[in-house]
Amino acid sequence: MDSPLVLGIAGSPRRHGNSERMLDAALKGAAEAGARVHMLVVAEADIHPCRGCNSCSLTGECVIRDGMREIYTLIDSADAIIVGSPVFFATVPSVLKILYDRMQPYWARTHVLKLPLPRRRPGGYIVVRGGGDPYGFVAAQYSTKSVFAVLGVDYLGEVKVESVDSPSDVGRHPEALEEARALGKMIAEDAMRRE
Ligand SMILES: Cc1cc2nc3c(=O)[nH]c(=O)nc-3n(C[C@H](O)[C@H](O)[C@H](O)COP(=O)(O)O)c2cc1C
Repeated sequence: MDSPLVLGIAGSPRRHGNSERMLDAALKGAAEAGARVHMLVVAEADIHPCRGCNSCSLTGECVIRDGMREIYTLIDSADAIIVGSPVFFATVPSVLKILYDRMQPYWARTHVLKLPLPRRRPGGYIVVRGGGDPYGFVAAQYSTKSVFAVLGVDYLGEVKVESVDSPSDVGRHPEALEEARALGKMIAEDAMRRE
């Protein structure tokens, strides 16, 4: 049997920045635990915003034909999900919010069409911010928890890093990178126990 697949979702529009480096560390921890890992970079995916047409409430499927078709398959095959993102204007960046809104078919299936809940899987969130506004991490955390709820992902933990702005700033926080690695390892081990 294959080892569990841990899917990392990189939610920044900036490649190789602080949140992606943290996510890399988490996926490294997951790989060390024996999981297969895959990183999805949402900024490079061909995905378009939810139209709010509610067709998914009738069919359980999204009518938009774009890169989400592959991403839905990837999400369905993941045994664990770890999201990494910065805070942008208190919440997640628009590239990630587009992905989040496209999770509506999962909500429609369980809440409208009364289909069975998805299988429970472990997950976590890594979130970084520059600071300078009074709103902290909380809106980004709630958005991510809301998506995890419809995907059947148990939110096992998070790592938050403050005062990072330039793309390499997180390099000055080896303890945070280590925390991310430990989160990835713990999530992978949890996924293995559920196999
Ligand atoms: C458009 C934009 C909006 C931002 N809004 C916030 C904010 O509301 N709160 C905050 O603490 N930092 C904010 N930041 C700073 C980012 O969170 C910070 O630069 C972070 O390290 C970027 O992560 P990344 O390297 O993974 O892209 C913002 C940055 C940008 C570009």
